[in-house]
Amino acid sequence: MPGAVIVGTQWGDEGKGRFTDYLAKEASLCVRYQGGHNAGHTLVVDGEVFKLQLVPSGVLYPWVVPVIGNGVVVDPEVLLAELDMLEGRGIDSRRIRLSGNAHLIMPYHQELDRLNERYLGKAKLGTTKRGIGPAYADKAMRVGLRVQDLLDPKIFREKLDLVLREKNGVLTKVYNRLPVDAAALAEQYMALTPRLEPLIADTVHLVHQALDAQQWVLLEGAQATFLDLDHGTYPFVTSSNPVAGAVGAGAGVGPRDVERIVGVVKAYTTRVGSGPFPAELPEGDSVGDLLVERGAEYGTNTKRRRRTGWLDLVMVKHALRLNTCTEIALTKLDVLSPLRELKVCVAYEGDDGARYDHVPYHQSVVHKVRPVYETLPGWGHDIERAERLDDLPAEAQQYVRFIEEVAGVAVTFVGVGPGREQTVVLPRAA
Ligand code: GDP
Ligand code: IMO
Ligand code: MG
Repeated sequence: MPGAVIVGTQWGDEGKGRFTDYLAKEASLCVRYQGGHNAGHTLVVDGEVFKLQLVPSGVLYPWVVPVIGNGVVVDPEVLLAELDMLEGRGIDSRRIRLSGNAHLIMPYHQELDRLNERYLGKAKLGTTKRGIGPAYADKAMRVGLRVQDLLDPKIFREKLDLVLREKNGVLTKVYNRLPVDAAALAEQYMALTPRLEPLIADTVHLVHQALDAQQWVLLEGAQATFLDLDHGTYPFVTSSNPVAGAVGAGAGVGPRDVERIVGVVKAYTTRVGSGPFPAELPEGDSVGDLLVERGAEYGTNTKRRRRTGWLDLVMVKHALRLNTCTEIALTKLDVLSPLRELKVCVAYEGDDGARYDHVPYHQSVVHKVRPVYETLPGWGHDIERAERLDDLPAEAQQYVRFIEEVAGVAVTFVGVGPGREQTVVLPRAA
């Protein structure tokens, strides 16, 4: 069995966790390949809600080994708290494996994230303030501390002393803050090591062992294509590469190991934080309010109200191409049920009247484009109990077909509610 990637096609919170949980049933490994606890993945099983930030969403199946790959940035205290939460709910967390090459988020990363945002003022990115950007910056600067450094207290302290020379200079001289005490911080992290040590592993080896044994390895993306550091709406992006191709760097698999790439598409669009959003509904719009209310569009992580808009197929098409998606998992179709008519953005119109059916590369253009909509009929009644495609009203089926036609990729699953069982499997699903 090959690798399969689950990737977000919009600005996050499409329901990646929910579909990872659904598909993980058949897998032996479920691997996170990037991001950190800026992610918030929600699973609903038999009415029980699980909110995960770092632990891969396959954790609910006892036969799945959840793997935190080398491309993830890890706050060890957050990870341990999540493991405690899982244990408290009867889920064995000792199966989880943590890459020794993953980088550690340190308290100064979080402090610098907060300070950067404050100093940006109106130009702030609206980050989750989890220290993600500063931790990845240190990784690129080659001054990051890695999970494996926890296993060697001497090395850990040496590296920390070195990096704090610069960090403390910035904290005290630029931001007028107190310096970080190296000894106290080293002690704080060392105290966590005994619990983390049994989890630390050569995760690349584990992944290849599973692939060699023809087992299915599920690679779970966090964030999404338009939050990608290279392909998103820079600088309003996260500091990692959520695109499917990043599994190579973040999990250690090669392009030939991946056969299935599931692009998760929310039936409408949301975004948390700043940045352009062509199909955004204006504040106070009644459709936007309905989407927030019915879709519970508040950040899993930060509780911020998500910005909302109609489905933007210009973006989705671009994402499907960038990720070479083999199929679409469509989520939250049920949220649209009360609406009489539905708009779908199929192109953009520029300031100068130019029409774009692809995402313009120039950000200044993206900021100014207006959406060109097609209108489709709504269905007007609940679909939460649909089990098969035929159970969906004709108009809902038409909405699904429209997406497939414009996108040129098959929809294989439709989410009609947050529950694991509220998944309509379409006939073309393998
Ligand atoms: P992720 O970050 O992509 O994993 O998505 P989140 O978990 O942050 O946000 C998705 C939200 O929508 C969660 O509250 C899910 O429980 C919920 N959800 C997922 N799929 C569906 C669906 O098909 N219908 C409804 N109504 N809710 C869904
Ligand atoms: P999941 O995996 C939605 C957004 C933040 C901010 C930008 C940068 O649940 O889909 P960061 O803290 O990463 O430096 O913030 O990215 N962001 C997300 N938005 N879902 C997420 O994850 C996100 N992770 C980061 O709101 O705009
Ligand atoms: Mg989320």
